[in-house]
Amino acid sequence: MSEGKVEKEHLVFGGVDVVDLAERYGTPVYVTDENELRTNFRSYKSAFETANTDTDIYYAVKANGNLALLRILASEGAGADVFSGGELHLAKSAGIPVDKILFNGNSKSEEELREAVESNVKVSVDSLDELQTLSAIAVEMRKEPEIAIRVNPDVSPAVHQKIATGLRESKFGIPFYETVAACEEAKRLSNILLTGIHCHIGSQILDLRVFREATGKMMNLVEELYEKGIELEFVDLGGGLGIGHSKEEKEIAPTPKDLAEVILPTFEAKMQSLGINPKLILEPGRSIVGPASILVSKVNTVKQAYKNFVAIDAGFNLFIRPAMYDAYHEVVVANKLKDQDSVLCTAVGPVCESGDIIAKDRMLPVVKRGDLVAILDAGAYGFSMSSQYNGRPRCAEVLVCDGKVDLIRRKESVEDLIRNQEIPKRLK
Ligand code: LLP
Repeated sequence: MSEGKVEKEHLVFGGVDVVDLAERYGTPVYVTDENELRTNFRSYKSAFETANTDTDIYYAVKANGNLALLRILASEGAGADVFSGGELHLAKSAGIPVDKILFNGNSKSEEELREAVESNVKVSVDSLDELQTLSAIAVEMRKEPEIAIRVNPDVSPAVHQKIATGLRESKFGIPFYETVAACEEAKRLSNILLTGIHCHIGSQILDLRVFREATGKMMNLVEELYEKGIELEFVDLGGGLGIGHSKEEKEIAPTPKDLAEVILPTFEAKMQSLGINPKLILEPGRSIVGPASILVSKVNTVKQAYKNFVAIDAGFNLFIRPAMYDAYHEVVVANKLKDQDSVLCTAVGPVCESGDIIAKDRMLPVVKRGDLVAILDAGAYGFSMSSQYNGRPRCAEVLVCDGKVDLIRRKESVEDLIRNQEIPKRLK
């Protein structure tokens, strides 16, 4: 979040007073700033626009699949990385062109493979077994899907172990040493059009050296394939750029431009030496939507026990990152921005689990019931990982832009908790 600023006592986000927003839409509520979203996407476009390289940005829909946000990104020229039939549906519904969609996944059902082929999107093939299945489906459907081979490049980013995806022991991709054979096999198969290779090494990466390593390995693979007569149309290096969460981290967090400076020299050097011109694809999620949203919650109660607890109405049902990855997210008291941070508090959610901690041991102003706590940089893997755990309907989402507000998802009701459930006749 870059725009929040002190105006009176209240947090202002996207030109809108967050206290007014909370009154109008209730809490909890996710709030996304359209300008920030556009700016973040454009910073990728401009960082990777060079005379020599043609780059496409395939936004990772898993980070936040709200249709309004996808629509905005589509209008900026985004493609999409989708990881399920559901995400494919979201991307297509938002108007993202099918020739800019890559269907990823380590465990795609036959039905999903058929949907991908039917929709004419590219498929990132994660195993030799999947390659054979896809080929059989393609023959049967009389189609010729474009594919990429998902490569496991065996690199170790310094991130939480649950979000490192290119480790040797990760479940994603074909082992590096088998990828040439996999590509040759893809070439042999009828009705399969091998056009790219793909990797994604992890998420929330702040030390970019690992991108240099992965790019080097992928471009060496491009060369090896070229020497075997296989020329690729694209190389997809995935997403993973981290964002700053604390004030200190924000000062050092790398930007898309820094990422471009790490990736492009290796990419372009190989292009030149081989005299080829593949497209570069990137799949950022977090760095585009993460800083563009806040989650606004209300304080239900405060308690002085062995610790000072501030119990808010949003827990890991709506925002699981702190509980699942020990993630740090800044919190501010949105109606008391000018008050001195004077009390050490732990902000906890309403879920019946000890791990439902949103912000541990933070200095906050004196907080009381009814105050508003905003969780910052909550746009990525926030709503998209939410649940109805503990019988809590999911919250609303709103979009703000230069002082205007639009509801972009109604909050669920208790009816939504029972909507698809059936009580067998014999129990009635
Ligand atoms: N492409 C692929 C194939 C991916 O698996 C992912 C994320 C991305 C792109 C986007 O990565 P990003 O730019 O957002 O780092 N829920 C976790 C993050 C899981 C990421 C999974 N894959 C979290 O909240 O930290």
